[in-house]
Amino acid sequence: MPVEGAGRLDVASLFGRDGELWMEIGFGGGEHLAAQAERNPQVNFIGCEPFVNGMASMLGHVEEKKLTNVRLLMDDARLLLDKLPDASLDRLFVLFPDPWPKERQKKRRIISPATLDRMARVMKPGARLRMATDIADYARWMLMYTLDHPAFEWQARCAVDFNVPPADWVTTRYETKTRGEGRKPVFLEFVRK
Ligand SMILES: C[S@@+](CC[C@H](N)C(=O)[O-])C[C@H]1O[C@@H](n2cnc3c(N)ncnc32)[C@H](O)[C@@H]1O
Repeated sequence: MPVEGAGRLDVASLFGRDGELWMEIGFGGGEHLAAQAERNPQVNFIGCEPFVNGMASMLGHVEEKKLTNVRLLMDDARLLLDKLPDASLDRLFVLFPDPWPKERQKKRRIISPATLDRMARVMKPGARLRMATDIADYARWMLMYTLDHPAFEWQARCAVDFNVPPADWVTTRYETKTRGEGRKPVFLEFVRK
């Protein structure tokens, strides 16, 4: 999917149809993106993943499942966020982003005030942002910045809402591995106000 040049992307022409638009940032091996695209054929999906092995794996899923509702960018998701029209996204997934655990690395985390501003611009009112992490410090970080952002409202009412996977959850190899190592994921659902 090309993102060069000035101006915003024409999303409908990218898919040859109108429809809801869902996006996944850092889809890794693509298990989640492919499963959601297969379950929701009426929805248009865009996914970003800079890692070539992840892209190759996702293309395998696209071919195997014969998905026609997915467009992919092998690059930094922030480039694509800046090319999307205002209020064009219905759902956004950021699942187990790279944790950058050391203090001096934390500025590289994809969840930051600047990225949340970019997300807020492109999400429709009522659009949902789903984040997950297996790193307690990153969960606190996600909560701190997203709760502090005026555009987002946390949906959790009790602990089950962030300790238990949501109904349409898809387990990836990454999640299986991290659970095997004894880490417990946290699931954070926000709505764009
Ligand atoms: C820990 S993996 C998780 C993969 C997948 N979400 C899952 O749950 O299995 C994090 C992924 O985010 C990707 N990533 C890192 N920075 C990114 C960025 N700026 N834009 C898009 N993807 C990014 C990495 O290449 C990696 O595949």
